[in-house]
Amino acid sequence: NDPAACDSPAIAAAVNPQRLANDLATLAMIGAREDGGVARLALDDNDTRARLWLVEQASELGAQASVDAMGNVFLDLPGSDPELAPVVTGSHLDSQPAGGKYDGALGVLAGLEALRALKAAGFTPRHPLSLVSWTNEEGARFSPGTSGSAVFCHVRSLEETRLIQDSEGVTMGHALDTCLAEMDAANVPRRSLATPMYAFIELHIEQGPILEREGASVGVVEGIQGVSWFEVTVTGTANHAGTTPRAHRRDAFEGACAVATALREAARDSEDRVRFTIGKFDVSPGSVNTIPDRVTFSIDLRHPEAATLKALEATFNDITQHTWAGCRVTLAALSRIEPVAFPDALTAQIDAAAGELGITAPRLVSGAFHDAIHLANHCPTAMLFVPCHHGLSHHPDEHTELDDAVVGTQLLAASLARLSR
Ligand code: GLV
Ligand code: MN
Ligand code: MN
Ligand code: MN
Repeated sequence: NDPAACDSPAIAAAVNPQRLANDLATLAMIGAREDGGVARLALDDNDTRARLWLVEQASELGAQASVDAMGNVFLDLPGSDPELAPVVTGSHLDSQPAGGKYDGALGVLAGLEALRALKAAGFTPRHPLSLVSWTNEEGARFSPGTSGSAVFCHVRSLEETRLIQDSEGVTMGHALDTCLAEMDAANVPRRSLATPMYAFIELHIEQGPILEREGASVGVVEGIQGVSWFEVTVTGTANHAGTTPRAHRRDAFEGACAVATALREAARDSEDRVRFTIGKFDVSPGSVNTIPDRVTFSIDLRHPEAATLKALEATFNDITQHTWAGCRVTLAALSRIEPVAFPDALTAQIDAAAGELGITAPRLVSGAFHDAIHLANHCPTAMLFVPCHHGLSHHPDEHTELDDAVVGTQLLAASLARLSR
């Protein structure tokens, strides 16, 4: 006696594996690399071609395509009650410079196939249904990423985002205008930012090893851990490497190693839940026989609980208050996204859909951030993960088995049906 039940098995049966495989192959050709990977940097020619390909899929689906000021592309299907807010699914089409075929792309294509399956199964939604592709999730060309979803959800302003430059000095505003001109030429109408949504569900590859290890084809994501990015600057005094005795040295590299080790130790937890990464480390002036006077390094710090993340940030502040190896240290906070827990009411609907389909879908927390982290502040949001081979992502060899992608798409379609009926 489940009031939200619909004919999930018929909807799942309408998911067409061959069509999904064809779409994955077609999209992977746009920006294909010789090593089998994909390079579709945000708002480059390939990313724009991928958008135009997506827009071309609208007519066969019977959907209306549109684009907003951030280049986010929507395909909208009407519901029987036009007063209701849409149930939305999607992800992103941009990739890392040496990216794979699945990160982001699978979420868009699974969403497309789910909408086709709902139509093919004769399902009539009460809520409108939408597919979205968010601009610049990766942040590989314009940093930080998740810009399309962040601006859509009013987390960042359109004006400041348009000013971000790539490594060649091209602003995101200029790149957006070029892309939007192509969309205008294809007669894609413009739509507003921040339009209401009833719910958002993003399917994504896990980008980690858990589902593969558990032998599960799909997982239900309970939330996304929070992330803080910092830049640490260590200032010493440059001097001759050969002539300067210990007592006279203020070696910024020595100070950086000491403070980096202290920060890493502070982030070590017995449960292995804290994620602490120094991914960039710059030594100046960068000469073999000069004592460095300046080191900057990055910190990517993550934890699923806001309180723990905050406590670690405070500890990092304390650690960087004093000198290390005689060098002054400063800690600059670059960006921060609070952890989100997806609402139980929504994940319970997905669990129920999985139950109807006889799918075992374990719960897990997302280690990576996704556009869903911003959508969670806009409407009830959830995510589905499918396994990726060896947990490998941001790599040309990134791979998800078609069977797993199909199961994920079936659960997505059944979940969209429950929410939109
Ligand atoms: C992006 O996907 C990240 O989690 O760093
Ligand atoms: Mn992604
Ligand atoms: Mn990615
Ligand atoms: Mn990502």
